[in-house]
Amino acid sequence: MASVRLEGIVKRFGSTVALRGVDLEIEDGESMVLLGPSGCGKTTTLRIVAGLEKPTMGRVYFNDRDVTNLPPRDRNVSMVFQSYALWPHMKVYDNIAFPLKIRRVPENEVRKKVRWAAELMEIEGLLDRYPHQLSGGQRQRVAVARAIVVEPEVLLMDEPLSNLDAILRVKMRSEIKKLQRRLGVTMIYVTHDQVEAMVIGDRIAVMNDGMIMQVGSPNQIYREPANTFVATFIGSPQMNMMDGYLEGRVLYVANSRLDDVDLGRSGKVIVGFRPERVLIGGFEGLRFKGRIDFVENLGSTTIIHVEVEKGRKIVVSISGEASLSQGEEVTISIPRDAIHVFDAKTGRAIAHGV
Ligand SMILES: Nc1ncnc2c1ncn2[C@@H]1O[C@H](COP(=O)(O)OP(=O)(O)OP(=O)(O)O)[C@@H](O)[C@H]1O
Ligand SMILES: [Mg+2]
Repeated sequence: MASVRLEGIVKRFGSTVALRGVDLEIEDGESMVLLGPSGCGKTTTLRIVAGLEKPTMGRVYFNDRDVTNLPPRDRNVSMVFQSYALWPHMKVYDNIAFPLKIRRVPENEVRKKVRWAAELMEIEGLLDRYPHQLSGGQRQRVAVARAIVVEPEVLLMDEPLSNLDAILRVKMRSEIKKLQRRLGVTMIYVTHDQVEAMVIGDRIAVMNDGMIMQVGSPNQIYREPANTFVATFIGSPQMNMMDGYLEGRVLYVANSRLDDVDLGRSGKVIVGFRPERVLIGGFEGLRFKGRIDFVENLGSTTIIHVEVEKGRKIVVSISGEASLSQGEEVTISIPRDAIHVFDAKTGRAIAHGV
């Protein structure tokens, strides 16, 4: 297995800058998820690790060995694409065997390894079929089997579950995580689904616009977002964000204030708090009076939109059903430890909890 290190990676396609200086270190045997909106540079990063794309600037290291100029076939990596890319004219067996055959692995060894990979992915019964005779989920398993059959040092996955229905995605994401642990393989996994990222990643690198915004464990990313981008990108419903003002030891937010806030600075800030941390009623922390604008009953949770000033709404998420209805006046409160403060200019986090 191998550790992977990206140093100062810049990638330009003509006038488009896809990556603007990416530094990232993935430990040996670690599962790293690249998470970010469409076009932020996730696939480009993977392709650079695979050697399918050359960085305009920067270096790529496997185990401290500089592989920047090494072609893909000389890097021990496998990649699974969103589209599976199985060969339609080859049976499942031959699809899985193909990467071994180009490596000129002897025939009896090929048979053993294909069987091993097929068993791991539980597709032993499908080896004689053609891809068009498989379901989407089965094709996905074949694609993963083909990727692991060469026992790569680094496994790259580019949104491998995006063509599957919701139920299958949930099942496959935990299977992929288990497989990665079992093989102990270093994995870089691309997704724009934050729940998938949380389940699969030992760590998550949140990307935006060709840059890494934060790298951390799923918990760190959720509890201590480094900036407003990460804060609003992670979590559903989105974190509430309001303009605030610090003066002396007072934090002002809309028509509310909170005393004894000691952040050692004054001026404009952005105040964030997650919908699931807002209490209906309650007496501590930041408090607002408002009127319920809208109630969404999602079964296991209820999302309540509270208007606290004209045009200013706070989203509250509570588990279970709520006996609240539109038009009702309520008081809501946000405990001090649930309040995040960000710099109004740079968006960088100043404090998690006040
Ligand atoms: N071969 C290429 N030629 C020109 N521009 C490219 C090329 N490949 C990628 N880009 C551009 O680089 C940027 C990053 O693309 P990339 O495919 O890495 O994004 P992504 O994060 O994988 O997005 P998605 O979630 O939509 O797959 C985009 O602006 C894209 O248009
Ligand atoms: Mg992509």
